[in-house]
Amino acid sequence: MTILVTGGAGFIGSNFIFYLLDQYRDCRVVCVDSLTYAGNLSTLDPVMRDPRFRFVRASITDSAAIEWVFEEETPDIVVNFAAESHVDRSIENPSVFLETNILGTQVLMDACRKFGTGRFHQVSTDEVYGDLPLDRTDLFFTEQTPLCASSPYSASKAAADLLILAYYRTFGLPVTISRCSNNYGPFQFPEKLIPLMIINALEDKPLPVYGAGENVRDWLYVEDHCRAIDRIIRDGKVGETYNVGGHNEMKNLDIVKLICKALGKPESLITFVEDRKGHDLRYAIDPAKMQKELGWFPQTQFADGIQQTIQWYFERREWWESIRNGEYQNDYQRMYQNRQEMNQTDGV
Ligand code: NAD
Ligand code: DAU
Repeated sequence: MTILVTGGAGFIGSNFIFYLLDQYRDCRVVCVDSLTYAGNLSTLDPVMRDPRFRFVRASITDSAAIEWVFEEETPDIVVNFAAESHVDRSIENPSVFLETNILGTQVLMDACRKFGTGRFHQVSTDEVYGDLPLDRTDLFFTEQTPLCASSPYSASKAAADLLILAYYRTFGLPVTISRCSNNYGPFQFPEKLIPLMIINALEDKPLPVYGAGENVRDWLYVEDHCRAIDRIIRDGKVGETYNVGGHNEMKNLDIVKLICKALGKPESLITFVEDRKGHDLRYAIDPAKMQKELGWFPQTQFADGIQQTIQWYFERREWWESIRNGEYQNDYQRMYQNRQEMNQTDGV
C-alpha cells in the first residue's frame, strides 16, 4: 500500500510518517511538501534512507507537479496535512491560507479523481466550529455542530471541508475528514504556544500570554492524533467526519505556569500582551464517535505527554536552534513588537 502524505515535513505530518513506517513493514510512504518556513527537511532525516520512503519537494497548489507524483507513485490513499496552520499569520496575511488550504485541497482531490485514488483524507481542525463560551463547560463540539469559523485560517479550513463534502456528493470521491483539537509533542514549530513557551523559558526570555490567559484549549498528544487518522483511513466510513480529542481542556495561563514549574523558571517571565484579534474562547471536542465506531481512545495522559515534550525540546536544542534563523527572528519581532504589554487586569 502506498500512502501519499502531504505536509510531512511539518509537525503532525512528520510524526504521522514515523508512526506509519514504524507500525507497518509493508507500507510505502511518499511525502510531498513545499518546505515553507514551517517545513523542515532535517526532521525527516531518520527516514530519508528508508527504501519505503520518498520525499518530493512540491506545492499542493501546483497541479502539474501533483499529477506527476500521482503518475509516478499511484497512491492508494492521500492524507492531506499540508496547510498554512498558524492563526496569527492568517490575521496578518490571509491570501496564502486561501491558496494552500482551499485551492491546494482542490488540486489534490482533482488528482485523486483522475487517478482513481481509493481514499482522500483531510486533516481538518476543531477550529472550523468556532468557539464555545468559557462558562458553559457542559458544551462540546460534535460532528453536527455548525461550521462557524472565526479567523482566516479556520475559515480556509472550513471552506476546504465544504469542498471535500461537495466532491463526495457530486463526484463520489471517497473522502473522510478528521477534526482534531490542539496537538502538542516533538517537532512542533516554535511559533505555537507550547514550544514557544518552552524555548523562551529555556532562554529566560519573556513568555507572551495573550489577554489574561483565560482562553481554553483541548490538548492531545500528537501520537494519539496519528493513531486516530490511521484508524479512520483503515476503518472509517467514506463521506464521514470524525472529531478527535481527549477531553483535556486547559487555560493557556495554566499551561505556561506548568512549563515554568517543570523547567524551574520564575513565573515573573510571564508577560501579558495584547489579545489576538477575534480570539476563540474555548475549544472542547466530543470524541464519542471515534470511540464508539472506531474504538479509538487517547493513550497519553497530559501529565506524561507534556513532560516528554519539555524533555524533547530540552534535549533537541539543535533542532529548534537551526530553525531560529533570520526569518524566524524577523517574524517574531513583527508578531510581538506591536502587542503592547498589559497589566494582568487589563486583559480580564
Ligand atoms: P505545520 O505548519 O507544522 O506544517 C505544515 C506543513 O505543510 C509544513 O511542512 C509546510 O512546509 C507544508 N506546506 C505548507 N504549504 C504547502 C504547500 N502549498 N504545499 C506543500 N506543502 C505545504 O502544521 P501542523 O501543525 O503539522 O498541522 C498539519 C495539519 O493539521 C494542518 O492541516 C492543520 O490545519 C491540521 N491541524 C493542526 C492541529 C495542531 O494543533 N497543530 C490540530 C488540528 C489540525
Ligand atoms: O485547535 C486546533 C488548532 O490548534 C489548529 O487547527 C491550528 O493549526 C493550531 O495552530 C492550533 O491553533 P491555536 O490558535 O489554538 O494554537 P496556538 O498555539 O497559536 O495558540 C494556543 C493558545 O495560546 C491560543 O489561545 C492563543 C494563545 N497564545 C498563543 C501564542 C503563540 C498565547 O497566549 N501566546 C502566544 O504567544
